[in-house]
Amino acid sequence: MGAAQEKEAVLACSKEDLIAVGKKLINIKGREILLFHYKGEFTAMDQFCFHQGGPLIAGDIEEMGKYNCIVCPWHNYGLCLTSGEAIYGYTGVDPPVYKSLGKKQRMHQVHERDGNLYVILNTDPEKHESDYYYTEKYQSVREEN
Ligand code: FES
Repeated sequence: MGAAQEKEAVLACSKEDLIAVGKKLINIKGREILLFHYKGEFTAMDQFCFHQGGPLIAGDIEEMGKYNCIVCPWHNYGLCLTSGEAIYGYTGVDPPVYKSLGKKQRMHQVHERDGNLYVILNTDPEKHESDYYYTEKYQSVREEN
């Protein structure tokens, strides 16, 4: 991690804590982010599903073909833990077929140092569909309902 990144990095938790639970919700500057440990890798993505804002913390991690995903509890899209791609499958065929809809979920950077995990918010101007659930427009819709 460079000096500029060091300034932006937020301590999330210890590596051991995340390994014990597999996924953990954190909040950085008001943005809920989900941190994962799966098969030795640490990754982080927006917590609200790109599709309709489902809470990914309530999903299970599953392998969908070549993609390791968190499966949204609302309508079962998978979100690839490393790329943020949305994955759907045809499971009525043998073997099942899984396809990507492209990158939909904003991913954030995770760094490990001295046994701790630090997250850096991805503020890249490229739009991701999950961004909508962090807008004032969506917050006001949520408060009305
Ligand atoms: Fe996540 Fe629909 S809200 S799949």
